Amino acid sequence: MAQASHDSLRIAKRGSARDARPVFSQRSAYDARKNSLALALEATPAQLDLTLSNPTHAGFEYPVPELLSALHNPAAHRYDPDPRGLPATRRAIAQRLLQQALRVDPDHVFLTAGTSEAYAHLFTLLCDPGDELLVPAPSYPLFEHLARLTDVNAVPYPLVYDGQWHIDLAQLRAAVSPRTRGVLLVSPNNPTGSYLKQHELAALEQLNLPLISDEVFADYPLRADATRVMSALQSERALVFSLFGLSKQAALPQWKLAWLCMRGPRELTTEAAQRLDLICDTYLSVATPTQHALPRMLELMQPITQAIRARLERNSRALRARIGSSSPVSLLDAEGGFYATLRLPRTQTEERWVLDFLQLDGVHVQPGYFFDFAEEAYVVLSLLTPEATFDEGVTRLLARVEQRVS
Ligand SMILES: Cc1ncc(COP(=O)(O)O)c(C=O)c1O
Repeated sequence: MAQASHDSLRIAKRGSARDARPVFSQRSAYDARKNSLALALEATPAQLDLTLSNPTHAGFEYPVPELLSALHNPAAHRYDPDPRGLPATRRAIAQRLLQQALRVDPDHVFLTAGTSEAYAHLFTLLCDPGDELLVPAPSYPLFEHLARLTDVNAVPYPLVYDGQWHIDLAQLRAAVSPRTRGVLLVSPNNPTGSYLKQHELAALEQLNLPLISDEVFADYPLRADATRVMSALQSERALVFSLFGLSKQAALPQWKLAWLCMRGPRELTTEAAQRLDLICDTYLSVATPTQHALPRMLELMQPITQAIRARLERNSRALRARIGSSSPVSLLDAEGGFYATLRLPRTQTEERWVLDFLQLDGVHVQPGYFFDFAEEAYVVLSLLTPEATFDEGVTRLLARVEQRVS
C-alpha cells in the first residue's frame, strides 16, 4: 500500500515535470468567462435585437436562384490554383474599381476567404512578432484578436468627436514608435460611421507607413461629403492595401470571399506582391466555384446593396426624428455604415444602461466599451435591424432614459 502510494507519487511528480512545459501558446489564451451582458442574455433573451449585423438574418430578399446558378459552373471542376486568385475574377474586380475611378492593377488584387484572412496575411507580410500596428479606437473589436494571433501589438490611436468624428492626428503621430509597421483605417468606420477625409489621408502619407484600409462598408454612405476620400487607393504616395468583400458589399458573409487591393510605389508593390504570393499560396483558401461566380455576383449584388442602403437611410432618418434637441439622449453623427451611436446621460454606467434596456425593456443594444470608446456612456444600434423592431426598440430605450433622468 505504502509502495503503491510512493509509485503514484513518483508518477505524479514526473507528470508535473512534464506539465511545466506549456501545452498551449500564449497567443491563443483568452478569458473564456462570460461578461455580464452575455450572462444576462442567457437569462433574458432579447425581445428586440438592435445589434443585428448579419444581413442574412435581417429579412432582405435575395435573388437565391440566380445566386445559386452563379455557382453552377462546370469550369469550377478544374483546379488551376493561383495564389492571387483566378485572373478573370481579379480583372472583374479591377474593372469594377475602375468604374469608381480607382485604378488597380489586376495583378495587385488578392482574393481571400474573408477580410479577417486578408488582415492576417497583411500582418504576416508587414510585422515580426512584437511589432506594432496603429489601430483606430473606437473601432472593430476583432483587431485585438487578429493582432494577438499574429503576435502583433495593436496600438490604439483615438478618433475624437466634436459634432463630427475625426482622427486625432497629433495622437496618432505620437503613437508611432520604431516598431510601428503600419496604420489601420476603417472607412466608414464600425461603429462611428466616419469616413477617411482628404486632409487625413494627406497627413497619413507623411508618416511613410503602409496603410491598411478596410472599406467593406464604403458602399453605404448616409450622405455625400466632398471632403472624404472614396478609397485610400487614391493615395499617390503611400503603400496602400484596401480591403473589400462580399460579406458587407453583397451582404453575403457566408460566401467567404474578400479581396485586398494594393497600390503604391513600384519598388514596394513588386516585393509585396511576391511575398503575398507565398503567404496566399501556403493556404490557397478561396474555393474555385466562388471565384468563378464573383463576376456574376458583382452584377447580382446591386439590388441587395440598394435594399440595404434604403433600410439604413430609413432607420437613420427615423432615429434622428425621434431625438429632439431637449432629449437627454444625443445621436452622434454617422456618415455611413451599418451603425448608429447614442450618447446617454452618465447618471449610471454604460453597463447598467445596457442591462436595464435588456432586463426591463427586452431591448438588446451594444455598449460602447465593446468598441473601445474612450469614455462612457455610449450604446451602439444596428441600422440593419428590420424597421418595426428598430422603431419599437428605440421607443422603449428612449422611454427608459426619460424615466431614469426625470
Ligand atoms: C470593419 C469590418 N471589416 C470587416 C468585417 C467582415 O469581415 P469578413 O469579410 O471577414 O466577414 C466586419 C464585420 O463586421 C467589419 O465590421
